[in-house]
Amino acid sequence: MHQNIETKFNNLKERNLSIDITRGKPDRSQLDLSNELIDISIPSISEDGIDLRNYGEPFGIKEARKLGAELLDAPIENILAGEQSSLLLTYQTVLSNFLFAEPTPWKDLKNPKFICPVPGFDRHFMMLDDFGIEAVGIPLNEDGIDLDAFKNLLQNDDNFVGILCVPKHSNPSGEIYSDTNLEKMFEIGSDYSDKFLFLFDHAYLIHDFLPTPEQKPLWEVAVKMNVQNQTVITTSFSKVTFGGGGISFIATAGHSLELIKKVRTTMIICPDKLNQKRHVEFFKNAESVKKHMQKHAELVRPKFEIAYSHLEKLPKECGTFSRPTGGYFITYSTTKPIATKVVELCKELGVLITPAGSTFPNNYDPNDSVIRLAPTYVSKDELEDAMEVFTTSIQIAHFDIKV
Ligand SMILES: Cc1ncc(COP(=O)(O)O)c(C=O)c1O
Repeated sequence: MHQNIETKFNNLKERNLSIDITRGKPDRSQLDLSNELIDISIPSISEDGIDLRNYGEPFGIKEARKLGAELLDAPIENILAGEQSSLLLTYQTVLSNFLFAEPTPWKDLKNPKFICPVPGFDRHFMMLDDFGIEAVGIPLNEDGIDLDAFKNLLQNDDNFVGILCVPKHSNPSGEIYSDTNLEKMFEIGSDYSDKFLFLFDHAYLIHDFLPTPEQKPLWEVAVKMNVQNQTVITTSFSKVTFGGGGISFIATAGHSLELIKKVRTTMIICPDKLNQKRHVEFFKNAESVKKHMQKHAELVRPKFEIAYSHLEKLPKECGTFSRPTGGYFITYSTTKPIATKVVELCKELGVLITPAGSTFPNNYDPNDSVIRLAPTYVSKDELEDAMEVFTTSIQIAHFDIKV
């Protein structure tokens, strides 16, 4: 068997492949679904008479905010429609608290810390690092964060200012937080402090490609638990229409809403209202956004199926893999501490994978076992090759075969 794997490795090497599956991006056919947006003709005046070509409406045009309100199931007065990036809104939320949180801006705290479920999104860690905020990892279970670990951390340290998580199709391991998990999180966090921030990056809110467990609207759960002033939810159309070319939305209330408005007022006079209007004209309502997402699902699902078909052939002893029902990533967890080695071997064979460790704070995976795969962007043929390379590299590293 080892001989076969070695031969496969050498054959793959001779093919001089060059495939990049590092980032979760839509492929061309997914982008084509929204081509109409490029040429769509729109009125230059908004529903309530605002000239879309000029400055004004710093928090987004009413019709875009209405669409955001429908998608996030929150009242329009709690919604801002921003530029094309939800990550920017998340960053601005952290910035606003860093500069202006009351009673003490985070910049004036000795050692502000955030809780981050791991594995997580590398840019979240980078963001917190920019502010000198320590990201402390807690494990994720199938139904959300490990509540005991959450409670334990909070009991033993009063430096935490918030938690940052992806509550649906979590990047990269695909968990869907249950309503109960969220309620408990809100309860524990708000008991800890009425200023503790629940920051949700809802990047994969409507990105199911297989039947997915129902999740109550996050805003509804936050209101039920009376933590809406401590809750910030962001999302965007980056993986609905165009990567980096959609609209972003934020839902929040009370002091958190005032803080984000405050920093945004200094930073930007208004978002691109024409692009907001273009999106509203294209979609009209949340129902049609969801229908559009079904077309994405048809294109994305086969890519995941290709990846699963290869991963299923790996000997069970090598590791386990996630089987998300939405989102953009698969996580492979190796049994042995070989993630770094596997990524290196893939690179040697011409396949780029997200660096091992990057789904953990400080790029440090204590078990060196988590590997993030992003199957959507490449063609099906390229994906077949990339998965062949990946599964071969796993076996080379796991069985310590010399190549
Ligand atoms: C969890 C998560 N949040 C945010 C983003 C980026 O979103 P946006 O383009 O709206 O900034 C991504 C993109 O990969 C993501 O995976």
